Amino acid sequence: MAETWTCATDRAEATAALGRRIGAAALAGDAVLLCGPVGAGKTVLAGGILDGLGVPGPHPSPTFTLVRRRRGGRWPVWHVDLYRLSESEAGQAGDLIGLDEAFASDGVAVVEWAERLGAWTPADALRVELRRSAPDAREMWLRADGPRARRLLAAARSEGLAAGKV
Ligand SMILES: Nc1ncnc2c1ncn2[C@@H]1O[C@H](COP(=O)(O)OP(=O)(O)O)[C@@H](O)[C@H]1O
Ligand SMILES: [Mg+2]
Repeated sequence: MAETWTCATDRAEATAALGRRIGAAALAGDAVLLCGPVGAGKTVLAGGILDGLGVPGPHPSPTFTLVRRRRGGRWPVWHVDLYRLSESEAGQAGDLIGLDEAFASDGVAVVEWAERLGAWTPADALRVELRRSAPDAREMWLRADGPRARRLLAAARSEGLAAGKV
């Protein structure tokens, strides 16, 4: 059964800190799917995850290359940003842009615009939907459908957060 958790942040650094907790718990084969509109904070959260994995920054979105493999952390990381693809294109272009490699078990995949993955959506991935509720406030809805994702969700909600406040 899916496990879910909702939290809110009141500044970008708090969103990055949430990402660092997820990244610190990530193992090869894990995937984190980030959903939400432009400016929702997907890249901020992805940057925190990469920091938590020990990848040296900075961590710009691979907006034009769609996929960037990042080294230097505990595992190889594929940072994916599907902004420039429609859902049907992502489905067709998945092989070309290396989604099979991104979701292979020797690394960690972090996907922005994951709502566009279509049939490529991995079964056991932590899904985070981000929403801007005020200029500096974001609401995040996390969902875990399998054991890998539940480990990441447990890490995300650690640190004794009061009422889902990060
Ligand atoms: N609580 C917050 N969490 C994340 N980002 C925030 C927050 N408050 C303000 N921001 C700002 O919102 C912007 C989010 O941008 P970005 O992460 O690139 O969004 P996306 O990748 O979803 O398009 C950044 O400029 C960031 O500084
Ligand atoms: Mg982005």
